[in-house]
Amino acid sequence: MSSIPPEYDLSNPIPASSTGLYSSLTNYGDAHFALFLRKVFIKSLGYTDSSLSKPIIGIVNTYSSFNPCHSNIPSLIESCKRGILSAGGLPMEFPTISIHESFASPTSMLLRNLMSMDTEEMVRAQPVDGVVMIGGCDKTVPAQLMGGISANKPFLPLITGPMMPGNVKGVRVGACTDCRNNWAKYRAGEIDMEDIMSINEELAPTGGTCGVMGTASTMACIVAALGLTDLRAGATSAAVSSARLRVAENTGTAIVEALTHRKDSGTINPQDLLTRESFLNAIIVLQAIGGSTNAIVHLMAIINRHPRVAGTITLETINQIGEKIPLLVDLKPSGENYMTDFHNAGGMLMLLHRLRPLLHLEARTYTGQTLGELLDSSTPPSVLKSFDFDLNSPTGVIRTLDNPLHPNSSLVVLHGNLCPDGAVIKASASKDKRLLKHRGLACVFKDTRDMAERLDSPSLDVTKDSILVLKSIGPVGNPGMPEAGLLPIPRKLAKEEGVEDILRISDGRMSGTAGGTVVLHISPESADPESVFGIVEDGDVIEIDVQERRLNLDVEDEVIKERIKKRKEELAWIEKARLRGYRGLYERNVNQAHLGCDFDFLTAAGPGEP
Ligand code: FES
Repeated sequence: MSSIPPEYDLSNPIPASSTGLYSSLTNYGDAHFALFLRKVFIKSLGYTDSSLSKPIIGIVNTYSSFNPCHSNIPSLIESCKRGILSAGGLPMEFPTISIHESFASPTSMLLRNLMSMDTEEMVRAQPVDGVVMIGGCDKTVPAQLMGGISANKPFLPLITGPMMPGNVKGVRVGACTDCRNNWAKYRAGEIDMEDIMSINEELAPTGGTCGVMGTASTMACIVAALGLTDLRAGATSAAVSSARLRVAENTGTAIVEALTHRKDSGTINPQDLLTRESFLNAIIVLQAIGGSTNAIVHLMAIINRHPRVAGTITLETINQIGEKIPLLVDLKPSGENYMTDFHNAGGMLMLLHRLRPLLHLEARTYTGQTLGELLDSSTPPSVLKSFDFDLNSPTGVIRTLDNPLHPNSSLVVLHGNLCPDGAVIKASASKDKRLLKHRGLACVFKDTRDMAERLDSPSLDVTKDSILVLKSIGPVGNPGMPEAGLLPIPRKLAKEEGVEDILRISDGRMSGTAGGTVVLHISPESADPESVFGIVEDGDVIEIDVQERRLNLDVEDEVIKERIKKRKEELAWIEKARLRGYRGLYERNVNQAHLGCDFDFLTAAGPGEP
């Protein structure tokens, strides 16, 4: 009898292909009982059988009192639920961990992979047909994309959105480029404590993610480039705006409609929807927005989760694309403006229109249309052309291809004996362009403690032409690869000579909101016994040529080999195996920056399902 609910129909097994509440059953050795029991508990919340028969859409709630970048999540959930319900789905919210940059010790990056595992496993374990993942702060969106691709259930990201800029004495300020700029001025004695305290009050005047083109904004734009959110407002509308709430409602509606109308199209699971071309578009956008260097690590981790794309895109792809893609978006730290300006100038929709000749228009989007079809059907509204929305306008926040802010390659991957597996520099954010082709003497700090102790010493042997080298901040050397790569300018150079930029090299990361001539992500990191970067000494000559994509240590090969041999006897790399808990898991399994700092066992090339 077809009217018998499946849990009571003991003569027929619960189909393995079941959806909604009937999927992902708990294993008691009796599937009918598992479903019976599940209904016992869900009915305690007052749900009817009618509600429970609808497509179930999970909403990943990453609200946390320790995450101000996610402060608007309660209202986003309310709006998203409205969209899900109106389209005929049943919303079910559930938590995963939430990570904020300033409230995670030692670093948020240490926890990114944990969040990706949390996301993947909860999406896989629970009876959801599709998921809306709410994230925003730097590591959260990458973690959700990684976990979502691995779980391979239909999902859409819902970005919390950028904060508004603040205002200090008539000057606009915003986290976090202006946090760093003003802190540097305070260190150099250019502003006093009263000034820095009043600036502190205004740098983050509303909830939301950092309001410049930092990692959070970059990842939001990448989500749009991947075709996973609304092009007009999904990446750029302010966290505190009504537009952001409409994005939330539309995201809820869109995922139900995809499940209802396109379930059999073979394009709604992320591993089908996202193709190599989708990720190439993401890299094109990354270059065009002058995005965060961190996004390169995250993109590599995300790509290497995808069974059919992993290995087809490498760091070299970043350079190949960069050579053809100009920097078009005038936002801090490469430019002058804030995310709200980008949004008001047309946001990702305008940028993608301008990049159109360079994009892979055949890539599919969450709407069911290709990117080309979506752009065809979403020309910027004519009312908006009255100010900075004219597609032919050559200036403004979003430049045209023939009038870029930087001609090409805002992000560059370097190779050489110092970084055989690669290193990254954001050339467009260099404040002193002569440093992009430079030879200088290394001033070496063996770790962050050494740097803190000696950097401001009057006796430090350093000039404006020195190259500051900071070791032991790589993925394993200082777990989580801290954002310490933007070494402060030594006080005697900043204060006495007014030096504002100096070449800095490390195996760590820097905030996407930061600027300067800074080489990051040296791979392999210094903690690796074979690392050439690990044996750099004070006074060694280092040569960089960004145009030639080169970074070399000008020391005889024989000397390098001898130093590596000697150093191997001192390193305690193997000791990591004895660490307990998540930190032990991390240090034993994290791969290097050029691969994304993911756990080897989570990548598409890692072990398969049992
Ligand atoms: Fe959350 Fe910058 S601290 S986005």
